[in-house]
Amino acid sequence: MPNFLDIKDLAKDQLDQIISVAQEWKLKGSSNFLEKKNILMIFEKPSLRTRVSFEVGISQLGGTVTNLNSLDFKFGKRESIFDTAKVLERYVDMIIIRSFDHLILKEFASIVNVPVINALTDFSHPCQVAADLLTLKEAHGSLIDKKISWFGDCNNVTQSWIEASVLYDFRLFVACPKNVSPGDETLRWIKEKQGDVTFTDDVCLAAENSDCILTDTWVSMGENINKSIEKFKPFQVNEKLISLASKKAIFMHCLPAHRNFEVTPEVLEGSKSVVFEEAENRLHVQKSIIKYCFS
Ligand code: CP
Ligand code: NVA
Repeated sequence: MPNFLDIKDLAKDQLDQIISVAQEWKLKGSSNFLEKKNILMIFEKPSLRTRVSFEVGISQLGGTVTNLNSLDFKFGKRESIFDTAKVLERYVDMIIIRSFDHLILKEFASIVNVPVINALTDFSHPCQVAADLLTLKEAHGSLIDKKISWFGDCNNVTQSWIEASVLYDFRLFVACPKNVSPGDETLRWIKEKQGDVTFTDDVCLAAENSDCILTDTWVSMGENINKSIEKFKPFQVNEKLISLASKKAIFMHCLPAHRNFEVTPEVLEGSKSVVFEEAENRLHVQKSIIKYCFS
């Protein structure tokens, strides 16, 4: 059975299918194919959208949920990851995990004999970007020939957008401070895949005629809160920046948002913002991701 750990693990037609099924279920409702299935959700970090949308989605699909949070459980703390995996696969049919270290998630997924979904790690956030792709498709009618522009930090959401951009042949511009980058492994991967990804500190170059303006927090969960945010200020998404984008451009933010830091209230609540549609789409897409994992 397939896992859903990273966008780059999927073929384009698999992701297309996940998005199409989500779009259809959003309009017509879904089936309850999860009847008699128990799904475990392990959240070692806080969550509002991901946790609630998965829990509600699983219930709409007819399944049941068991939750473990950071107070109950930490990978590798009481016993080995191997023993945890071998026990849990005997109780549940699928495991959804939000954790810190991506390598631990991958190790766990390689041992456990039920599908695993990545609900965010320090490295990537594929469920978020799958929902963003649905939102982009709804707004523009298709995912073909798009310019996508990211501003601010290079984080887990950026990583999944980089992977999606390579899959869909988007022109991705990542506008970030000079010493901020997704890491050598990702830079090598982009080169190997001949991805059209431009890293720049020129916010105008990134925003001009863009179809989609994206940003996220400058300090992600689990990062050092003393991280200097001064260098990110020129990368704030404000109305001046948005005015450079194409007429039909949308603004997306995975939320939670920090008004007057990475985005101004005028943009977040403005006419180009689709952030709440994007948040709703988490529900539809995650149900579809669950279906993919049981296929
Ligand atoms: N966007 C997102 O993943 O939100 P939560 O952290 O609230 O789940
Ligand atoms: N980059 C953010 C995303 C939150 C949904 C974080 O990891 O905190």
